[in-house]
Amino acid sequence: MMKRSGDDGNGGVVYACLGVLCCVLVVSVIAVVSVRFSVSGSPFRSSVSAPTVSIVELEKKAIAATAVANRNPSRAIASDLSFSPNSSFSRKSTLVRKDDKIQEGLARARAAIRKAAGVGNLSMNPGGIYRNPGAFYQSYKEMERRFKVYVYEDGDFIIVHNGPCKNIYASEGRFISEMEHVNNNFRTRDPHSAHVYFMPFSVTWMVKFLYVPLSYDIEPLKEFVSDYVRLISTKYPFWNRSHGADHFMLSCHDWAPVASKGNDLLYNTSVRVLCNANTSEGFNPQKDVSLPEIYLYNGVVSPKLQSPPPANISRPYLGFFAGGLHGHVRKTLFDHWKGSDSDLRVYEYLPKDMDYPSEMLRSKFCLCPSGYEVASPRVVEAMYAECVPVMLSDHYVFPFSDVLNWEAFSVQVNISDIPRLKEILVAVPEDKYMKLKEGLRAVRKHFELNRPALRFDMFHMILHSIWLRRLNLRF
Ligand SMILES: *[C@@H]1O[C@H](CO)[C@@H](O)[C@H](O)[C@H]1NC(C)=O
Ligand SMILES: *[C@@H]1O[C@H](CO)[C@@H](O)[C@H](O)[C@H]1NC(C)=O
Ligand SMILES: *[C@@H]1O[C@H](CO)[C@@H](O)[C@H](O)[C@H]1NC(C)=O
Ligand SMILES: *[C@@H]1O[C@H](CO)[C@@H](O)[C@H](O)[C@H]1NC(C)=O
Ligand SMILES: *[C@@H]1O[C@H](CO)[C@@H](O)[C@H](O)[C@H]1NC(C)=O
Ligand SMILES: *[C@@H]1O[C@H](CO)[C@@H](O)[C@H](O)[C@H]1NC(C)=O
Ligand SMILES: *[C@@H]1O[C@H](CO)[C@@H](O)[C@H](O)[C@H]1NC(C)=O
Repeated sequence: MMKRSGDDGNGGVVYACLGVLCCVLVVSVIAVVSVRFSVSGSPFRSSVSAPTVSIVELEKKAIAATAVANRNPSRAIASDLSFSPNSSFSRKSTLVRKDDKIQEGLARARAAIRKAAGVGNLSMNPGGIYRNPGAFYQSYKEMERRFKVYVYEDGDFIIVHNGPCKNIYASEGRFISEMEHVNNNFRTRDPHSAHVYFMPFSVTWMVKFLYVPLSYDIEPLKEFVSDYVRLISTKYPFWNRSHGADHFMLSCHDWAPVASKGNDLLYNTSVRVLCNANTSEGFNPQKDVSLPEIYLYNGVVSPKLQSPPPANISRPYLGFFAGGLHGHVRKTLFDHWKGSDSDLRVYEYLPKDMDYPSEMLRSKFCLCPSGYEVASPRVVEAMYAECVPVMLSDHYVFPFSDVLNWEAFSVQVNISDIPRLKEILVAVPEDKYMKLKEGLRAVRKHFELNRPALRFDMFHMILHSIWLRRLNLRF
C-alpha cells in the first residue's frame, strides 16, 4: 500500500496553485491502491551521522562522464553547442566564459564554507539545532549571493508549472508556485547562467489526471516523466552535459519515487526532492533531498498552530497520536498502545470532541509514526505546537538533516522499542526536555511555508538542500 486514504481528508476535492492564487479544482476521487513497488535498495544510512565536512566535486564527475561519452576530454559545455542556431566562435567563447564563471563561483563558495566551518559560536546555534552553524550560515549566504535555477518552460499547465497547494501534498505545489513566481530571485531566464535545472512537473497532478483509478497501473506516470526528460534532453544541451546530475524534480506524492523510474538517469543521477525519502526504496541521501510533508487544511496551517504557543502552556499529558492504521509501524504502535494508557494517548480515530492541534498543545510528546510511506505531516505540526516529535520510522532520511541536528529537537525511538515507549519518554530528564523545546522554538522557522517566501523558511531550506548537492558538500 502506498496511498494514504484516511489522512487525505477531503476525498475527491483537490486544490491547485493557479499562478499566485489558490483555486479549487474538483476532480475525481483517487482510488486507494494496494500495489507494492520494490526498488533495489541503497544501503541504510542513519539520518544522524557525525558532522564532517568533506567535498566531492560533482563537476569533475560530470565532466569525466561526458568526456567518456563524447570521447572528448575538453570542456563538456563546448561540445554541446550544436543545438544553438548561432554557434559561431564568439558565442561559444561567451558560453565558455559563463561556464568558467559558474565554476569559479562554486569554488569560491566551497572555500568560504570550508573556512567558516570551524567558527560557529553558541549564539549562532540556538538550541544546538545546527550541525555546523558556521558552515550553514556561510553556505546560506553563498546561496543567496550566487545560486541560480533555470526552470524549464516546456510542458503544459496543470501537470507542469502547477501543483497542489492544499492538503497533504501542499509542499509540492507551493514549491513549484514559488519557484515560478516572477519575484523569485533564484530563478534565471538564461539557462547558461544556471547552476541547476528544474523540471516543474507535479506527480500529484499526474496521479489525478493520468492514473486510471483502481487500474493499479503506474505506467502512465512513468511515461509522462520519460517523455518529459526526452523532450528537454533533445531540445536543450543541459541534460546530456551532466547526464542529469544538475537537474532536479520535486514531489510530495507517495508515488513520486516510482514515477521517477520513468528515466534511469533521473532515478539514479538527478536530484529527486521527495517526501517519500525511504532509503530502502532507492532514496539516496547523497544526491536526493528529503522534502517535509505539511498538511494545509484549506491552504493554511491550523489557526491554533500559526503562532508559537506560550512557553508556560500546560501540558498535562505525556504523549499523543491519532491516525489511521496505515503500514506496519502504526500496527506495532496500536498493538501496544491504542486506548491502553491515559497518559500516553494513542487513538486510531480521534474522538469527536477532540481536535488534533489542541491535543498536540496539551501533550509533551507527539508521536510521528510512518504511515504507508515514511514521511508524516505530524512532524511539522508537532514542531509548530512545540510538542516534541517522537520519530517512529525506519529508513527515513529526515528533512534538512545535512544541516539540522535532529537530536536537538526530536526524540528517535527504534520501532523495536515501541513496547517500551512510555518508559523511554518518562525517562527523558526535565532539563533535556527543556533543551528539546528550545530547539523546537529555534527550528520552527525552517519549516514554515510563507507566501511570499521568507529567508530561512521551508522554501529556502529546500533550495539550500539542492544548493548543497550542487556544491557536493556534506556537513
Ligand atoms: C550570432 O549572433 C550574433 C549576435 O547575436 C550575430 O552578430 C552574428 O551574426 C550571429 N552569427 C551567426 C553565424 O548567425
Ligand atoms: C557569535 O557570532 C555572531 C554572529 O556571527 C557574532 O555577531 C558574535 O559577535 C559572535 N560572538 C562571539 C563571542 O564570537
Ligand atoms: C542527448 O542524448 C540523446 C541520447 O543520446 C540524443 O538523442 C539527444 O539528441 C541528445 N541531445 C542533444 C541536445 O544533443
Ligand atoms: C539505474 O538504476 C536501475 C535500478 O533501479 C538500474 O537497473 C539501471 O541500470 C540504472 N541505470 C543507469 C543508467 O545507471
Ligand atoms: C502564562 O504567562 C502569561 C504571561 O506571562 C500569564 O498571563 C498566564 O497567566 C500564564 N499562564 C499560566 C497557565 O501560568
Ligand atoms: C520503506 O521501504 C521498505 C522497502 O520497500 C518497506 O519495507 C517499508 O515498508 C517502507 N517504509 C514505509 C514506512 O513505507
Ligand atoms: C533498532 O533495533 C534493531 C533490532 O533490535 C537493532 O538491530 C538496531 O541496531 C536498532 N537501531 C538503532 C538505531 O538503535
